[in-house]
Amino acid sequence: MIEVEHLSKSYGAVDAVRDVSFRVDRGEVVGFLGPNGAGKSTTLRILAGFLGATRGRVRIAGHDIAEEPLLARAAIGYMPETSPLYPELRVVEYLGFRAELKRVPRKARKAAVGQALADARIEHMADVLIGHLSKGYRQRVGLADALLGSPPLLILDEPTAGLDPNQIRDVRALIRRLGQERTVLLSTHILPEVEATCTRALVIAGGRLVAEGSIDEIRAMRRTSGLHLGVRGDADRALAIVRAIAGVAGAKATKGAAEGLATIDVDLAASADPVAVAEGAVGALVGAGLGVHEVAPRSASLEQVFSELTGADDAAGPPHEEAGT
Ligand SMILES: Nc1ncnc2c1ncn2[C@@H]1O[C@H](COP(=O)(O)OP(=O)(O)O)[C@@H](O)[C@H]1O
Ligand SMILES: [Mg+2]
Repeated sequence: MIEVEHLSKSYGAVDAVRDVSFRVDRGEVVGFLGPNGAGKSTTLRILAGFLGATRGRVRIAGHDIAEEPLLARAAIGYMPETSPLYPELRVVEYLGFRAELKRVPRKARKAAVGQALADARIEHMADVLIGHLSKGYRQRVGLADALLGSPPLLILDEPTAGLDPNQIRDVRALIRRLGQERTVLLSTHILPEVEATCTRALVIAGGRLVAEGSIDEIRAMRRTSGLHLGVRGDADRALAIVRAIAGVAGAKATKGAAEGLATIDVDLAASADPVAVAEGAVGALVGAGLGVHEVAPRSASLEQVFSELTGADDAAGPPHEEAGT
């Protein structure tokens, strides 16, 4: 459904997208995942035909976007990061206007708008002024806009950004439902979004594709990465003891709710055997007169895998800068 080959885009001196290649097959729901500034919106705008590429080629439903832009665009429903909505229009008026711009024939327009309203689950908002809608509903109007004419491919740029938890849940459910009949490529900088809605992820950072695979495959890119220890006694002493164990790359202590209890999160060195480190830590702590009431492996969360892949400490942090080379 989407074929991208060696796609690059520069804005003057800024290389926003660098030699990105991937494909999305019919029926897939794929997450385009990366920190802010990774190049997600730029890539999606190019796919949707709103921005020219500097290099590379893109085919949508078999049509090259540079050679057959109208055919390619006809297959796509695109929801930009911020939809330009008109506050003074009623939802149904806005969608009618959008259907006209998208050249839905006059006779078919009413039915197309009705279907999009139904698909986005906002039929009850049809006559409300857009300016009076909550952010969640405005987002769904953007989604309804993308759904106009029932395109087989949906490209959604951060569809749940800025929504509250209830709205996020609703929109994710909607995307899952839409994904049963259509191909979806959605961008996000939030991992749970991908886990909640997608079958596969493309991870992008610094304009480059850094990983690709099923959610399980991406998770499996990191083995057990640490240990979680529950200790009783002086937390600072426990920390010093744990840090001295072979195979421990780092550790930090958090004081527990109860007096005298603390948890220590241990990061393992790349070559460390988690069992040996756990045994060594428990032996040393108990030997020093400290109590150990909990030992658990900490398998890498998708968050950790993500920050390791993208080099971002925080998914919402500053744009990723590539180091040297
Ligand atoms: N119109 C533009 N002009 C110049 N630089 C831009 C423009 N749009 C985006 N960029 C830069 O390109 C990079 C990628 O941006 P973007 O595609 O918006 O990333 P994302 O959507 O992943 O946050 C960033 O460094 C951003 O500052
Ligand atoms: Mg973006």
